[in-house]
Amino acid sequence: MSNGEKLGRIFSGVQPTGNLHLGNYLGAIRNWVNYQSSYESIFCVVDLHAITVPQDPAALRQSTREVAASLIASGIDINESILFNQSQVSCHAELSWIFNCVARLGWLNRMTQFKEKAGKNRENATVGLYGYPVLMAADILAYKATLVPVGEDQKQHLELTRDIATAFNSMFDVECFPLPEPKIETTAARVMSLRDGSSKMSKSAESDMTRINLTDDTDLIAQKIKKAKSDADVLPSELEGLEGRPEARNLVGIFAGLSGRSQEDVLSEFAGQGFGAFKPALAELATEVISPISAEMRRLLNDVAEIDNQLAKGALRASAIAEPILDEVKEIVGFVK
Ligand code: TYM
Repeated sequence: MSNGEKLGRIFSGVQPTGNLHLGNYLGAIRNWVNYQSSYESIFCVVDLHAITVPQDPAALRQSTREVAASLIASGIDINESILFNQSQVSCHAELSWIFNCVARLGWLNRMTQFKEKAGKNRENATVGLYGYPVLMAADILAYKATLVPVGEDQKQHLELTRDIATAFNSMFDVECFPLPEPKIETTAARVMSLRDGSSKMSKSAESDMTRINLTDDTDLIAQKIKKAKSDADVLPSELEGLEGRPEARNLVGIFAGLSGRSQEDVLSEFAGQGFGAFKPALAELATEVISPISAEMRRLLNDVAEIDNQLAKGALRASAIAEPILDEVKEIVGFVK
């Protein structure tokens, strides 16, 4: 990977807290795959972030390998890009501590994801959950990455990353960190639950029927789409006709995301048809995209040692970039070597 030929450096991450779903795929991973030949790309399974809420150790280990396998199965090229798990590169935790001493309580108090995840019992949330976005800033800035392909839900965390970079630079009067930009694709930036068009498709939702996992088989995909909440109207010919119909909008958005077409284009094909016709077409399309990924993922998981080996190699390559940057930061801060 020669940086000279690439447009810039990308960093992005995903938590190993369960199966990846269609939201992760359409909102982030598919874009990672598309960008990796043009950008120097570093992708991370963020196990340090995962333990901000309690995790069963065996399940965390398993999930880290599964997520790594599904990223490779989705098309991440581990020779071209760097793929590793966060806890193997200590620079993330070290830089995060330094940033803890830069970020302000007031900034973290504004983070909506913390409020959502901590729920009503905020006093009982871990300090790690509160500092989650600071670690995220360290992930990105440890590589001086300038572009971060994510779904829309990560936008606020990216703003905080820019605030931390700016504050660090001005605190020490240096130009150490660039200000990274989020790269959010518009078609499927926010894939919603199949059961409620007003809440995000997520790994943590209790019912598995709310999401399509990259591991679901054809029957399960068909069943989930069949039971997905929709409405009794036919599909409109224009996008405006989806206003006030969050579930219909979501299903059309998923169709557009999966097919790589615009929502307008999808509507022009299905205008005047009801969900009785649209849902089977969507199920067929979803299966077409997901089946090869889940088959390849299962094949890769037959050789766990090889996945571990690839993650370890990725960690070495990541460390080789992050360590000199961390050394520079330590020098700026005034640590004796
Ligand atoms: P995580 O694991 O929740 O999700 C991984 C990626 O999937 C996107 N995503 C979605 N996109 C569209 N619709 C949805 N319903 C949906 N659900 C999830 C997320 O936006 C994300 O891009 N904090 C991050 C992980 C992280 C990270 C980083 C990302 C840690 N360090 C540094 C970028 C840079 C997270 O929890 O993602």
